[in-house]
Formats: sequence, structure tokens, C-alpha cells
Amino acid sequence: MVTLVNIREDVDEILPGVVADRRYLHENPELGFQEFNTAKFVAERLEALGVEDIRTGINITGVTGLVRGTADGPGKDRVVLARADMDALPILEENNVEYRSKNDGVMHACGHDAHTAMLLGVARVLMDRRDTFAGTVKLLFQPSEEAGDGGALGMVEQRVLENPHVDACFGLHVASRLPTGTIAVMDGPKSAAADEFEITVQGRGGHGAYPHACVDPVVIGAHIVTALQSLVSREVDPLDRAVVSTCAFKAGEAFNVIPDTAMLGGTVRTFSGETRDRLDTRIHELATGIAESMGGSVSIRYRRGYPSVVNDPAMSDIVRDAARAVVGEEGLEEGKPGMGAEDFSYFALERPSCFFNVGTGNPDKDSEWSHHHPRFDVDEDGMAHGIATMATALTMFLGQEG
Ligand code: NI
Repeated sequence: MVTLVNIREDVDEILPGVVADRRYLHENPELGFQEFNTAKFVAERLEALGVEDIRTGINITGVTGLVRGTADGPGKDRVVLARADMDALPILEENNVEYRSKNDGVMHACGHDAHTAMLLGVARVLMDRRDTFAGTVKLLFQPSEEAGDGGALGMVEQRVLENPHVDACFGLHVASRLPTGTIAVMDGPKSAAADEFEITVQGRGGHGAYPHACVDPVVIGAHIVTALQSLVSREVDPLDRAVVSTCAFKAGEAFNVIPDTAMLGGTVRTFSGETRDRLDTRIHELATGIAESMGGSVSIRYRRGYPSVVNDPAMSDIVRDAARAVVGEEGLEEGKPGMGAEDFSYFALERPSCFFNVGTGNPDKDSEWSHHHPRFDVDEDGMAHGIATMATALTMFLGQEG
């Protein structure tokens, strides 16, 4: 069995190398589906470590590799997956650090540089301890989490959960709102599903002084905006959570001309699949009904984004045990669901999974800026907790009976 004290010592030993990797990645950020240099760096590192069955170019830039334990045990035939995302954001970095982005206008402002470096650290720790566990760890580095365009989904579609068949998945995200030394874990729905709607209201334009000869799409649109607000307050179970926000309303130019059309656009955030389906249907019905009752019509484009990340309680319990061993009971926090979206959900839909948060907020290191802010940074000490917790959770999963 893996001894937890040792794993922490091992991680402390490799941390300088992980920090160097993270800084290299931070200096050389790449946007979604353009992570060619990052993927090459990852593959070279895995190869140098002796990781087996390295595959590259999965869904453009995705990389996977296997670490096979050599011990005997109940997890001998099991495979557990650990995932990191590799992409950066179109943000001009405002940090004056020696590892500042060299790619102007592109920045690791969400910590995916740390995720990639940490998973390389996990690979190193596990390679050094292959004789302490039975079973296989599949390391997965995915493209394009940020843009909503299918980094994880494409890898799942290219069957990364097969060959060998993966039994469970684990992923983590650094969190600047959590202090370094804390790990937050929760059961059930963790992130919201994020969908978008665009409603085009078709009326009949004309002179603003003669509204009776027109069908005013602005008034119809205003009724639709108001009615949409009743969906969450009147039709969603108060114990469930959802948001419907109309964020764009575009119509007309002149102050004395009733336009032909109005456009409404917004976002829908939900946790349960049932509520997600219901809001999709009801937005269509309400908008159509209101427009028709007022003499107009609508065309609606509804785009489904990432589904909700739902943690399996048994997998979360494994991460809790691992986190306790790394940061102690006082460092383990009960996670809170957030309305943001995360495409780890595509793995969690397929296999029992847990996605957890690792604290990297530290006022002394100015690392409490929010994610996606041009001053975002990571307290690199927190990466040690992430690596140790992930490596421990993976070996715990493989070490479980049954
Ligand atoms: Ni992120």
C-alpha cells in the first residue's frame, strides 16, 4: 500500500520541477485547439518518465499515456483516468512576473498551466511508485476547455475511455477563492449546464407615430423578457437551481421608426437534466405564444453547451480521504456548486467521477484575483496539495476491494 507520508515527501521533492514546468507553460500559453507546443512538451515529458502507450493528436492536440502499477492487488485489472486541461485564454496578461506570458494577448488566466504541470507531477510520482499499486492510471491532457467547443467531448467521441476500458475519472481545478492548504470536495451536481438562446422576433415595422399600422417587435420582445423571468421563479423547484438571463436585446436604430425585428439573446444555467429540458421547451413555448398572441412570430436558436458536472459520492469519498491525508481534516472543505460550466462533465457522464478544487489563493503571493482576470496567478505551493491528493486518490481507487 502507498504510505501517505511518503507521497507528501516525494511531492515536495519534485515540486521545483513542477514549478519550472508550470512557469514554462505560463510563458508559452496557447488557445484552445492550438496547444501544439504544449502537447509536444507534455508528450516529451511523459516519454522521458517512461510512461507507456503515449498517444498524441487525439481531437487535434489531446495526449494520453498509461502508468501501469506492478504490484498485485484487487485493482489489477482496473483503469482510472486523471484529466488535465491545457488551453489558455485570449487575455493580455497584466502580471509583472518573470514568467509573464510571451504570447501577447494570450494568457493562462484560469490555471490550466498548473493543471498540466500537476498532472505531469502525478505521472512522475506514480512512475516512481509503480511497485506500490496494482492497476493502471490513464493520464489525459485535453485541448480546449474554455471556448465551449468540445475539447473533452471530442476526446470521449474518439474513445479515450476505452482501450483500455476506464472505470472511473478524476479531475481537479485550482481555485483562487480557496486559500492554499484547502481542498474542496462535494457530491452531486457541481457545475451548471450552460446553454444559450437567441430569439428573433419578427414584427412589421413602420412609423413610430402610427403603431396601429405596425406589429411592434420591441414591445413583443419586452413581454418575452419579462415572461422568461417567471420561468425560474414559478416553474423550477425552489430546491433546484437555475438561471435564465437575457443579456442581449437589440432592436431598431431611429427614435421614430418601429423596426421589423428584435433580437434577444441569453444564457440558461441548470443543474438537473430535467430542469434543463423543461427550460428549453418552455422558452420556446413562451416566446412563440407571446409573439403569436401579439401578431408577430419568432425564430429561436437554442444551443446546448456543456452539461453539468455531477460527482459520484463514492468517488468523492475517495478524494475526501486522500485530501484528509494531504491537508488534514482542517484543510478539507465541503465544496459548493457554481453556476459556471466545465467540460469535465463529458467524462463524468460516462463513468463514476469526481471533480474537486484545490486552493491556490494566498494574499502574500497576490494570488487571489478571480479566474479569467488579467492579474490571475497561482500560489504554486498549492500544486503540491493537488498532486498529492490526485496521486493518492488514484491509488486508493485502484487499491479498493470489489
Ligand atoms: Ni478553468
